Amino acid sequence: MLSCVADYRIAARKRLPRLAFDYLDGGAEDGDALRRNTDAYRQWLFKPRVMTDVSQCSIATRFFEREAAAPLIVGPTGLNGLFWPCADELLAQAASRAGLPFVLSTASTSLLEDVRAAAPGADLWMQLYVQQDRGIAENLMRRASVAGFSTLVLTVDVPVHGKRDHDTRNGFALPLRVSRRLLADCLRHPHWCWQMARYGAPQLKNIAQSVGERADLSRHAAMLSRQMDLTLGWTDLEWVRRHWSGKLIVKGVQGHEDALLAAAHGADGIVLSNHGGRQLGSTLSPLELLPSIADEVGHRLSIYVDGGIRRGSDALKAVALGARGVLLGRAPLYGLASRGGAGVTDVLALMMNEMQITLRLLGCNALAQLGPRCVERAPLHHGSED
Ligand SMILES: Cc1cc2nc3c(=O)[nH]c(=O)nc-3n(C[C@H](O)[C@H](O)[C@H](O)COP(=O)(O)O)c2cc1C
Repeated sequence: MLSCVADYRIAARKRLPRLAFDYLDGGAEDGDALRRNTDAYRQWLFKPRVMTDVSQCSIATRFFEREAAAPLIVGPTGLNGLFWPCADELLAQAASRAGLPFVLSTASTSLLEDVRAAAPGADLWMQLYVQQDRGIAENLMRRASVAGFSTLVLTVDVPVHGKRDHDTRNGFALPLRVSRRLLADCLRHPHWCWQMARYGAPQLKNIAQSVGERADLSRHAAMLSRQMDLTLGWTDLEWVRRHWSGKLIVKGVQGHEDALLAAAHGADGIVLSNHGGRQLGSTLSPLELLPSIADEVGHRLSIYVDGGIRRGSDALKAVALGARGVLLGRAPLYGLASRGGAGVTDVLALMMNEMQITLRLLGCNALAQLGPRCVERAPLHHGSED
């Protein structure tokens, strides 16, 4: 019986070849930012109230006037088809069933139109990477708008890809070279292998569609990593606004100056994010930045946070410190990689259950009752954790 996200991580590690698991799980360089993201949540401890009547407890919230069952968003992750066939459709369906938004990556392995068809009632958000050929982004925005995506998440922390040594060691650099070691690794994971043989290797279908070419993973992944628009700047939010009339969130903000600039240039929200520790090897954790940035710009735009959230209680700490909601990256992917759509459903349900339990134990009936008074920062205790 799998009872927490950590259990799903172990199950995902068992089912995936090393190359795929490390791509999912790993961080940049020595993994300092990745570790710091999860450690940061352990530095904040709860200060519960008692005897408060928690009979009407609800974790429901709203993102831009739309109801959500919890302050959770299934965040954008690229190349999901490497973990399970039709992964983006399964993630969107599980999020929708749970009453949560799903953010589809530019590097998705399903067409955005297919994801919409698979989850007609879902609150779908579109994540955008801007490449040198701005026509690709314009095409994606147009198609996402026609397909009824409500919100655009402009990711700005990937002018180049971070240095991920595990991917290089595993031979995951694109174009993919099938070495003997890679083959042996794949054969040790027969279920994954069988699925790849049956459904074919994942493709970056949205990119392929936007450039009007046949799907070709190596070509389009290389394009995505080498042809980012390095000139992208804050004034380009006006260009985005000309092509996108829905809500606009800037993802990848990691400091006060940029949070203020996002507000000044009219973003509806920001995601404090270090890309799950996959870009710079050493950064502060987004949670460490949250309290002061929420103080400074929280009244001007919605603040979201991600990185290292593995428990429902982590999400509530972020809300207590000023986040409107949190994005989940790896957590739902562990569910997906171990049991497909059912695994995603389980992970979301267990995290929401943890939130219900925690909110009641804090003596609160609603998220609005959470605030900085509910948590206290304590020095991290370096115990015997392995
Ligand atoms: C496998 C993987 C692929 C990702 N791909 C994207 C992407 O295509 N676009 C994006 O904006 N963020 C991407 N991210 C970053 C996530 O959206 C999110 O910021 C990060 O995973 C949050 O940290 P967590 O995994 O600790 O929850 C990816 C993350 C992972 C783990």
